[in-house]
Amino acid sequence: MSEGLCIAVCGATGAVGREMIEVLAERELPVKTLRLLASERSEGTKIEFKGEEIEVERLQEGSFEGVDIALFSAGGATSKIWAPKAAAAGAIVIDNSSAWRMDPEVPLVVPEVNPDAVAGFAAKRIIANPNCSTIQMVVALQPLHQLSPLERVRVATYQSVSGAGQSGIEELSDQTRALFNSQEVTPETFPHRIAFNVIPHIDVFLDSGYTKEEQKMIEETRKIMGLPELPVTATCVRVPTFFGHAEAVTIETREAIEPEAARAALRAAPGVEVLDEPAQRIYPMPLLAAGDDATHVGRIRKDLSHPRGLELFVVADNVRKGAATNAVQIAELLIERGLVGV
Ligand code: A2P
Repeated sequence: MSEGLCIAVCGATGAVGREMIEVLAERELPVKTLRLLASERSEGTKIEFKGEEIEVERLQEGSFEGVDIALFSAGGATSKIWAPKAAAAGAIVIDNSSAWRMDPEVPLVVPEVNPDAVAGFAAKRIIANPNCSTIQMVVALQPLHQLSPLERVRVATYQSVSGAGQSGIEELSDQTRALFNSQEVTPETFPHRIAFNVIPHIDVFLDSGYTKEEQKMIEETRKIMGLPELPVTATCVRVPTFFGHAEAVTIETREAIEPEAARAALRAAPGVEVLDEPAQRIYPMPLLAAGDDATHVGRIRKDLSHPRGLELFVVADNVRKGAATNAVQIAELLIERGLVGV
């Protein structure tokens, strides 16, 4: 490997962890040493990085010695305990779990929206990667907010099973196969059968009647966009697709935004691809977004029920832009800004 940084991926065997390793290679980060960490179950598993087989190590005391940047995607409980330990060992942590996102001393960063927030890592040496559904929504909202300030955001999501990790992918696959063979299925990862179903329940229910996933979208959108009072409401739904979250987003802005002006602003925006030629059957779909790093936006039209309303459909690969790619982009920002020594 070339000269550069020591990077650790904690949760390296998971759906997001494996993608982080891919994205680190694709984007050619200056990686000198790559350390792969997971639970005891995966010790000794080999994962390829740039043509080299790297053995997965068990996460343990001492795992972060000499690490410059630690990318975490091993669940909230692991992050709560191990992110501070990694930070104390000198690493900068980029954490994909929800454990640290709303901590006022932890920046929550989407590089296309609030890149300057990375500097705030210094307080705890932890930077949080937002929820997958939030990331793609704010990438699409930011250029519209710059045209005219947002006054309200409403969203309904169609979230793929990979958002629940490797076990979610396996559950849809196993259930689909079982049902075609007239076999019984027992839900484990999801609260109900997900094959040939949609489930309006992601994460746990709160006293408000919202789910925690919905609450995350609301709070994280406000924090990333720096709009603590922005009215946001969400309904988050799991659907039987493997990769790519879709969102029907309705916004109200201070002045009406014409659909053509919205398209032009979105075309010029970083990380966005406009797919909006309905007559040609061109619009965003998980089928097109899976494997891509761009956030796809289309179905842009006036909300006929409101004089300053706009409707859009937003799709991105939740494992890439919604998780791994965004985390690696944050690492790139740290490097570009000289915040981590190369
Ligand atoms: P393992 O594969 O050894 O269980 P996913 O989100 O796809 O379910 O992946 C979760 C990732 O987090 C996996 O790499 C998993 O490792 C890792 N992980 C889960 N719990 C722990 C833990 N207690 N310590 C270290 N890694 C963990």
